[in-house]
Order: sequence, then structure tokens, then C-alpha cells
Amino acid sequence: MSNVVIHGKTFKIKITAAEIQKAVTVVAKKINTDLKDKKPLFLAVLNGSFMFASDLMKELKMECEISFMKLASYDGTCTTGNIKQLIGINEEIKGRTIVIIEDIVDTGSTIHNISEQLKELGAHEIKIATLLFKPEAYTKAVPIEYAAIVVPNDFLVGYGLDYNGLGRNLADIYVLDSISES
Ligand code: IMP
Ligand code: MG
Repeated sequence: MSNVVIHGKTFKIKITAAEIQKAVTVVAKKINTDLKDKKPLFLAVLNGSFMFASDLMKELKMECEISFMKLASYDGTCTTGNIKQLIGINEEIKGRTIVIIEDIVDTGSTIHNISEQLKELGAHEIKIATLLFKPEAYTKAVPIEYAAIVVPNDFLVGYGLDYNGLGRNLADIYVLDSISES
């Protein structure tokens, strides 16, 4: 499938499923070497990271755990600015090596926010594993240690990434076709 139409917009193929799998393997090898004896806890950020998390985990060789979390908005009574609450973590964070699994790092706000909360919970070290990284959009200082694929600042869908809720099921990654925009 070279083009898909989602909510009336045309997206064209950008990264094939085969290219994704190759990139996942490269990043998994690096993680296998670096975190061999660290018994890391992988924390996958829902919803977008579910496919990457699944493919990545199948290639990890060390003793490790995985859990899934979400960032949820506080209710109106809270005045902590734009910090969102981490929900879904029941595991002990204190003293552990944590790897945040993301589908894409764009401005970096999400991973910055999560990293700060994990530090508060006493994480020993925090690493970021992301399928896609948009350096041109990135505004934070959190190091992105494991970025499988670096991409330009375009809007992407597929392999977990959505456009208004649709497109997560696509095996390949598609880019918004500029001709069909507006
Ligand atoms: P950040 O907080 O700006 O780094 O954005 C991270 C989140 O925004 C990702 O986890 C995605 O859910 C979403 N996002 C950013 N760029 C894209 C994109 O190109 N397509 C779909 N979702 C995106
Ligand atoms: Mg996400």
C-alpha cells in the first residue's frame, strides 16, 4: 500500500515495515550490550508505543520487566501547571534502571515530564528508547540514547502512531502528503 487516506487526508509511505524491523534490531542490540546486567524496567508510554514496545521486547536478551503507563491530566483542582500525572506504574522505581519506551519524540515535553517524575520516585538512571526522533522539533536537554530512526519534522502515522485516533494499525509508517494538505 503506497498511499492511505485517513480522515480525508492522503498519507504516502515513508518507512516500510522491513526498514522498521531492521532499525529495531539495531537499537535492541545496543540496549542488550549497555544494559546487560542492569535488570532494567521498561516503561512503555501508551497508546503510541505498543507496537515498538512489543517488537523491541522480543529482541531483548537480559532479565528485564516491562510495564505500560499513561500520562493523564490532573483534575481542575490542581495547580501544577502542565505536569501530567503518571498512571499505571505499580512497580518499584527507586534505585532502578528505567527505560522509557516511546513511539516518537517530537518537542520532548512528554519524555521530559516523565523523566522528572521518575527522578522524584528515586530512579537510579533513566534512558529513552524511541522508535522515531525528530531532532528539528526537539526543545529539551534529556539525552535520547536509543533512537531507532531519525526523521524530519513531518507528521507521521502508522506502527502505533495515529492521526486523530486512526492509523495505529498500519504496519508501515506514512507521512502526510503535502499536496493533499489543507
Ligand atoms: P512531544 O511531547 O512533543 O515529544 O510529543 C510526543 C507525542 O506526540 C508522541 O508520543 C505522539 O503521541 C505525539 N506525536 C508527535 N509527533 C507525532 C507525529 O508525527 N504523528 C503522530 N503523533 C505524534
Ligand atoms: Mg506517544
